[in-house]
Amino acid sequence: MLDQSSDSLETIFQKALAAPKLFRNHDALRSDYVPDHLPFRDDQITSVAQVLSPLLHSSKPSNLLIYGKTGTGKTAATRHVLSKLTTASKNNGIQATFVYSNVRMAGTEYRVLAELAAQTGLSVPFTGLAVSEVLARLQGQIKNKKLHAVFVLDEIDYLVKLFGDRLLYDLTTSSDAIAPGFLSIVGISNDLQFKEELGARVLSRLSEEEIVFPPYTAQELTTILHERAKFAFNSGAYTEAAVNLCAALSGSEHGDARRAVDLLRIAGEVAEREGSKQLDEKHVRIALQKIDQDRISDALKSLPLHAKLVLIAAVKNDSSENKKSSGTIYEHYSGLCKASGIEALTTRRVSGLITELDTLGLVSATLVNYGRYGRTKKVTPQISQDVLRQAFQDDGVVSQLLD
Ligand SMILES: Nc1ncnc2c1ncn2[C@@H]1O[C@H](COP(=O)(O)OP(=O)(O)O)[C@@H](O)[C@H]1O
Ligand SMILES: [Mg+2]
Repeated sequence: MLDQSSDSLETIFQKALAAPKLFRNHDALRSDYVPDHLPFRDDQITSVAQVLSPLLHSSKPSNLLIYGKTGTGKTAATRHVLSKLTTASKNNGIQATFVYSNVRMAGTEYRVLAELAAQTGLSVPFTGLAVSEVLARLQGQIKNKKLHAVFVLDEIDYLVKLFGDRLLYDLTTSSDAIAPGFLSIVGISNDLQFKEELGARVLSRLSEEEIVFPPYTAQELTTILHERAKFAFNSGAYTEAAVNLCAALSGSEHGDARRAVDLLRIAGEVAEREGSKQLDEKHVRIALQKIDQDRISDALKSLPLHAKLVLIAAVKNDSSENKKSSGTIYEHYSGLCKASGIEALTTRRVSGLITELDTLGLVSATLVNYGRYGRTKKVTPQISQDVLRQAFQDDGVVSQLLD
């Protein structure tokens, strides 16, 4: 038994070793990799550098608000400038503290502040203090150490949506509390409407300078992707057509370089796993399907609880009667609520949730007219029970309802 399994492992390893190696530098296509050269971002990079360069004369840079859609190079360009500035200040014996935090990843104001503090050399317990106390300690650190600090708060729109603009207010109005140190804030937002969610005072402070990152054109995406491919793959390991297809497929919505780079990486992985000598268009199409599946799964996971329950009611035991009326779904839904000890919402709210699921493409809802018997909504699920089971498997409340 043991021999047999180690034998088959051996075969797997042998195969892997014998397979042609397509990637020269796999990491270069990871989403957090910052390439050395960012084509079509010279203007933005220069602007960010100009705003922050007063640091090199030990004066406080203006606060800066950067915005543009996802995948337009905001994070990569900003990190690129930060790393150049760090080197320049080190080489010239200038003391400056650069701190980067992705606030969406951090998740809460407390964790954002703790992360910022840690990067200034101040350790704060993971939990247990009031947010105001963590802020006060961080301000104390800047004051006592006379820090010349730049805090980059990436995906700041996310934090403001959840918690309001309080933290931004506190950070942009702290100059008295931190003198003789100083602090400049660079906020990065994927949401173009973000400015409307800021109070007037915070907005005017944060957007002393503003830089917009426009979407890439299809042509620009193609150039960017060819450059990344050359660096990431061995020569001859991919066809030009495959790279062009990745760019074309990603350019169709808006010029999103993240999607293009992800697609190229996954296509490369598919090709390598198949043992192919060359990444071609066929692998790109498989990768595209995989990405779309992951996207559906992410959408499912982030649904609110009652929307999940309504969806389960629509999808479960779907084989007998393919289309269900909204009334039938409501019955199933209330049953599911009862089974999990949750109070059911009204039929009206559930009807609203069905409309939302329709907008997300998870069900298709049509109004059917029965003449004088009135109208009813017919709902056809657009995903299978298996897909649901997969996506909800870590959700303690709803996963058991699918058994
Ligand atoms: N001009 C560019 N050249 C090369 N790669 C780029 C360029 N712009 C973006 N990328 C790559 O595309 C992906 C998304 O970029 P990112 O900076 O994270 O976008 P944003 O922060 O605007 O959502 C990253 O992998 C990044 O390295
Ligand atoms: Mg980003």
